[in-house]
Amino acid sequence: MAEKQKMVKIHILGEPFYVPDGLTIINALEYAGFQLTHGIGCREGFCGACGTIFRKKGDYKLQAGLACQTIVSEGMYLAQIPFVPAEKPIYDITKLPPDITSFKELYPVIFRCVACNTCTKSCPQDLEVMDYVQALIKGDVEKTADLSFDCIRCGLCALRCPAEIVQYNAAILARRLCGRYLLKESRDLTNRVKEIAEGDYDTELDELVKMDEDKLKKKYYEREIKLFD
Ligand code: SF4
Ligand code: SF4
Ligand code: FES
Repeated sequence: MAEKQKMVKIHILGEPFYVPDGLTIINALEYAGFQLTHGIGCREGFCGACGTIFRKKGDYKLQAGLACQTIVSEGMYLAQIPFVPAEKPIYDITKLPPDITSFKELYPVIFRCVACNTCTKSCPQDLEVMDYVQALIKGDVEKTADLSFDCIRCGLCALRCPAEIVQYNAAILARRLCGRYLLKESRDLTNRVKEIAEGDYDTELDELVKMDEDKLKKKYYEREIKLFD
């Protein structure tokens, strides 16, 4: 006899629903009949579109996570939240120095950090968010770029920050400044960009543009990854 699927009871906007155990929050919402058109993207933990907050049964703590990666549990409470604030100034990277003055001008709010570490605890990528903010405050643009390298810009750090800092926007400026001014030139990258500009890959690019989604996915997952030296 087929084993009976275990169900868990969750609450969505106050309404109880029974959903199969082991579903992600996104799959549970869809199982319950919600059609998601916003706050969802890759479903694989990379795009950062699905940051969400929730409560677990009997736990006072407000939890944060990616809805496509977080598994539902008995008594979980899900509620809609407004989007994460992502105020960002417009800047011209060619006119900014790669040091603390750019951040004093564009992100003075980082100096309000009270070192509470809430951002680090909220990060689904396990990044040392507070440490990269502190590095920025000390003017260490390279350290911030390095510590924030795997940021997927989900916004959960900003959502929980009591000082209203948008950490990930400051961090991407650090990575841009670092890439433009501080890192050594990559010979492989320079050569590859030149080859593309000269049309060496036109045939392959045309093929990719015409490929249907299934073939494109297959090709992507079977790709060879070259490690540059
Ligand atoms: S949550 Fe905000 S105030 Fe707290 S450590 Fe992170 S950046 Fe600083
Ligand atoms: S640093 Fe912030 S925006 Fe980036 S992945 Fe972590 S929580 Fe998300
Ligand atoms: S949908 Fe892309 S990270 Fe969750």
